[in-house]
Amino acid sequence: MTKPFAGKVALVTGGNSGIGRATAVAFAAAGAAVVIAARRVEEGEATVAEIRAAGGQALFVRTDVAVGAEVEALVARTVAEYGRLDCAFNNAGISGGGLLHEVTEADWDRMIAVNLKGVWLCLKYEIIQMLKQGGGAIVNDSSVAGLIGYGRSTHYAASKHGVIGLTKSAALQYAKRGIRINAVCPGMIKTPMIDRAIANPGVEAWFLTRLPLGRAGQPEEVARAVTWLCSDEASFVSGVAFPVDGATAAGLE
Ligand SMILES: NC(=O)c1ccc[n+]([C@@H]2O[C@H](COP(=O)([O-])OP(=O)(O)OC[C@H]3O[C@@H](n4cnc5c(N)ncnc54)[C@H](OP(=O)(O)O)[C@@H]3O)[C@@H](O)[C@H]2O)c1
Repeated sequence: MTKPFAGKVALVTGGNSGIGRATAVAFAAAGAAVVIAARRVEEGEATVAEIRAAGGQALFVRTDVAVGAEVEALVARTVAEYGRLDCAFNNAGISGGGLLHEVTEADWDRMIAVNLKGVWLCLKYEIIQMLKQGGGAIVNDSSVAGLIGYGRSTHYAASKHGVIGLTKSAALQYAKRGIRINAVCPGMIKTPMIDRAIANPGVEAWFLTRLPLGRAGQPEEVARAVTWLCSDEASFVSGVAFPVDGATAAGLE
């Protein structure tokens, strides 16, 4: 099997679960040394063990992406361990629903701190390192709810629309310095986040009416888009908000 990421180093936030975990495994299978960042240690170490058992290289670094000093330390540890940073998937995120007038200020602040400020902090420290190396490729995890309105959660949609603004603007700022920056916009993907959401009455039925392909996606289907966007195959792709959503954002059926 060819290993397009052999000799490369990839960082995946939220790499201990769901879409991030599948992407960490995919990067490792394609030859990258992978650094996994998240808060839950046991799940992080389990993903590292899975990758090492398959012959890959991986390391878990406990990180809260909403805390700048922790993100700075994460990138420093990555470079200390593997010498460089070539690819990053800024995927860590939280969800939460509710009508706008019922959402608390604390809920709003936490959503923005993790989903938007967290992506900005990751970009900041990743880009500082990539500028020293002369390039890199970054993918941010937005959502269908970053492309169109999301009636179930205004603060989630606001955070994910923000990720696309960050992505496109950063892509412009660093285009001439060898750093490509894109976003993926997943639709409904079978992960623990969705399992938690559909545990609430009526939510699964709501989602099922909004799936043009007639099914939810699998985390590995997003992972393949992310690794492609980070690969040399995507060398002329930057500033894109790439739906991986089975046509959910394409319009009304
Ligand atoms: N599943 C979907 O249908 C869907 C659709 C569109 C977009 N997305 C986006 O995809 C991303 C991954 O979600 P998922 O569906 O794979 O759900 P998930 O399994 O719940 O994964 C979320 C990940 O984010 C990490 N995380 C949360 N807060 C964090 C923080 N403050 N610092 C560091 N890591 C943190 C979690 O690890 P810890 O809890 O251990 O920190 C976990 O690894 C999210 O950004 C989500 O918004 C998902």
